[in-house]
Amino acid sequence: MIPRLKGTDDILPPESARWRRLLRAFDDLAERYGYDLALMPAIEPTELFSRGVGEATEVVEKQMYTFEDRGGRSVTLRPEFTAGIVRSYIESGGQGIVKLAAAGPQFRYEQPQKGRRRQFFQMDLEYLGETAPGADVEIIEFSYRLLEVVGIEGIGIHLNSIGDSTDRIAYREILRDYLHQRESSLSSEARRRIDLNPLRVLDSKADADVVYDAPVPIDHLGSEATDHFDQVRSMLEGLGIPYEIAPRLVRGLDYYNRTVFEFYSSSFEAAQSSLGGGGRYDPLAELIGSRHPVPAVGVAMGCDRIVEAMPMVGGSRLDLYVVVADRTHTVNAMEWVARLRCRGIRVDWDVSALRSVKAQFKAANRCEAVAVALVGTEWSQGLVSLKVLETGEERRVSVKEVEEWMKQH
Ligand code: HAM
Repeated sequence: MIPRLKGTDDILPPESARWRRLLRAFDDLAERYGYDLALMPAIEPTELFSRGVGEATEVVEKQMYTFEDRGGRSVTLRPEFTAGIVRSYIESGGQGIVKLAAAGPQFRYEQPQKGRRRQFFQMDLEYLGETAPGADVEIIEFSYRLLEVVGIEGIGIHLNSIGDSTDRIAYREILRDYLHQRESSLSSEARRRIDLNPLRVLDSKADADVVYDAPVPIDHLGSEATDHFDQVRSMLEGLGIPYEIAPRLVRGLDYYNRTVFEFYSSSFEAAQSSLGGGGRYDPLAELIGSRHPVPAVGVAMGCDRIVEAMPMVGGSRLDLYVVVADRTHTVNAMEWVARLRCRGIRVDWDVSALRSVKAQFKAANRCEAVAVALVGTEWSQGLVSLKVLETGEERRVSVKEVEEWMKQH
């Protein structure tokens, strides 16, 4: 027996029913909002993340699955989608507005716990080539609707603006002075970050006391970032999307500017973990080698955590289970099952055509079918027995009627 690696999961039935529902909702919503599908490599050059996500971030410093391939290149299993998607935009010419949706596994070497996995699954949206605050709002509104559609309760949005790069140069100095003055009360990790990347200290849980009174980016925004943020806020209010300003929210990745946000739910509170997060990242394209700036904003929603917060999927997995009582009609039954499936009805049957009627009924119950159609000698007259499993109600109906009946249930 070779067990699976720590921090990875086999996602199997019955849990996988919620995953299917979530991924379908994401795909459906993405199409409705005009996002095209992007299927991205799971492996990229290491430099893409060290330059894009940032050398001094937890992800790059401690969590990447990095190794040398057989050709001697340093490669990394993607810890997120954004840097790879921006790379693909630049590589394919990098012009105009592109709206992309991607879903798939990510890899981060973390200490595994509930909602914190080493292989985890993200649903990601990126709005590339747009500076307008309406793009930030669309991304936030989409994420909110997705959580609503899959039944998440108590959805909360933490919203902040960290300003533009120029605003941050001045702000960083103010923050550094503040932190240096309180250096003796900081954790060693925070002390190390003061000069390297002081913004990271703001989300350090170990330094919450010092951080509580620290100057925050939102009080040091330039006029353009202020105007952008005001518009984001008023549009969200217009759409009825509730949010809360979180002045210390800076996000764990270095490419952001202006709007940043995270999603929470009252049904998933493990270690204050977010169900999703994102923001505007205008600086990223140039960090990874674009010759011109590419304004962009995006989000990644964490499937593993959303599924934990989703209600159990009720209802039946199958509309109909076809039980063959008269073996001379096995081929007819097979052809009928195929026809019903073509018409969009969820049907299954015992392909072996060997098991007893009782065993076939057991299988129908296991599949939680709505009804069973029994194919017996009456098939020659175009009739089957239809039994509704929940009520036990049984009647003889024509094969055509079954399809009609299925549509109504
Ligand atoms: P992130 O905040 O690193 O952002 O991840 C987004 C979401 O992925 C988190 O809110 C969480 O739900 C989920 N997640 C992260 N790490 C884990 C883990 N170890 N186990 C389970 N779930 C996890 C990004 O990845 C950015 N690329 C988001 C973005 C897109 N920004 C702009 N565009």
